[in-house]
Amino acid sequence: MTDPAIDADALHIDAESLRERALTTLTTARARTTLLTSCVEDPDLTAQHSPLMSPLVWDLAHIGNQEEMWLLRAVAGREAMRPEIDGLYDAFEHPRAARPSLPLLPPAEARHYASEVRGRVLDILESTAFHGTRLTEAGFAFGMIAQHEQQHDETMLITHQLRKGPQALTAPDPDPVPLFTGPSEVLVPGGPFTMGTSTEPWALDNERPAHGRSLPAFYLDTTPVTNAAYQAFIEDGGYDTERWWTPEGWAHIRQHSIHAPLFWSRDGGQWLRRRFGVTEVVPPDEPVLHVCWYEADAYARWAGRRLPTEAEWEKAARHDPATGRSTRYPWGDADPAPEHANLGQRHLRPAPAGSYPAGESPLGIRQLIGDVWEWTSSDLEPYPGFQAFPYKEYSEVFFGPEYKVLRGGSFAVDAVACRGTFRNWDYPIRRQIFSGFRTARSAGDV
Ligand code: AVJ
Ligand code: FE
Repeated sequence: MTDPAIDADALHIDAESLRERALTTLTTARARTTLLTSCVEDPDLTAQHSPLMSPLVWDLAHIGNQEEMWLLRAVAGREAMRPEIDGLYDAFEHPRAARPSLPLLPPAEARHYASEVRGRVLDILESTAFHGTRLTEAGFAFGMIAQHEQQHDETMLITHQLRKGPQALTAPDPDPVPLFTGPSEVLVPGGPFTMGTSTEPWALDNERPAHGRSLPAFYLDTTPVTNAAYQAFIEDGGYDTERWWTPEGWAHIRQHSIHAPLFWSRDGGQWLRRRFGVTEVVPPDEPVLHVCWYEADAYARWAGRRLPTEAEWEKAARHDPATGRSTRYPWGDADPAPEHANLGQRHLRPAPAGSYPAGESPLGIRQLIGDVWEWTSSDLEPYPGFQAFPYKEYSEVFFGPEYKVLRGGSFAVDAVACRGTFRNWDYPIRRQIFSGFRTARSAGDV
């Protein structure tokens, strides 16, 4: 009953390596969760720092609860440890804004619960066979739960960014790089490519199955749009010029008096931004961060360009013109290493545009993975042949025109939750997320 859609053999991974990988990714995720929930005092864990976000202590217990549900109950057949708390940590029962008024586990109890769950998970990991059921094939459920924890770690980092008050987190800056002098865009030739995957063992349901697409030729920016370029849009009156905006985008920025990316402020002649409790001059060479889809779309129109479609983004990131194959990452099939991309909260900011030459695509496109999530023009839709697995509430309930797709991951995404096929999504008004973009144009356009 091996499911061909989950194929560890295709990547030549044996059971012991899978067990090791499951252990390492779960442990890495927990170290990050611990950092994010121990760098502030208890009142900051139970407070709601923004109506857009949960209290940090909700994320913490929700991480443990999902791990209990999928690894202890679904995989190992264990009884619920605390059935009375399931409802509190069901993301669909209580919207984020309502979570602070729930009788949540206090910080010490939430920590204890999550670590009890983890202790039992490490026991069952020893004896779980990585074949026979779709959930355990190639360690999928363990990978899914490590990705889930890392996704909430990114969510918690967003909460830290929204939090008022002094700095609680630090990380070294990315290494300085010489100013990028390559071409500003490259031609991605037209023709077919393979989108999505049927072989990546820990790919989530919405990345499946692999399927053919054919695209007309297009040009894509070699780097994400920088703060300097975005400032030119602002200085040119971009936010006051209706014709650059969709009607919904224009109505939104007017109603909410939006004149710059989130966290930016004007100080005389220069732009400042608040970043994890520190106010600094906006660095011109860094990819722009904290823009919503409407802002990205308007900038692109002002620049005489457009956002890439999701398929264009993935073709640029995965299609190798030399072999005709789609690779796992722009640089090939190797797992991400520090020289490839800015991932995993190693830094608390994107690296300057043009960084990570070792991570570039065969056509020379840089920073597709890491640094900033990139808005695409596409709505979140299922691929042909999509099957919800293992639960409809991961992706299926979000399909439709309400959500726009983001690709490539940010500095806040761990490698386990980042691939050339990985799909993220959000409402087009959202900008507390670590979002930026790059632009495209059709090859037929002048
Ligand atoms: C895929 C990032 C949109 O955070 O809402 C976490 C990930 N799903 N728990 C989200 C997720 C369930 C999801 N995103
Ligand atoms: Fe979740």
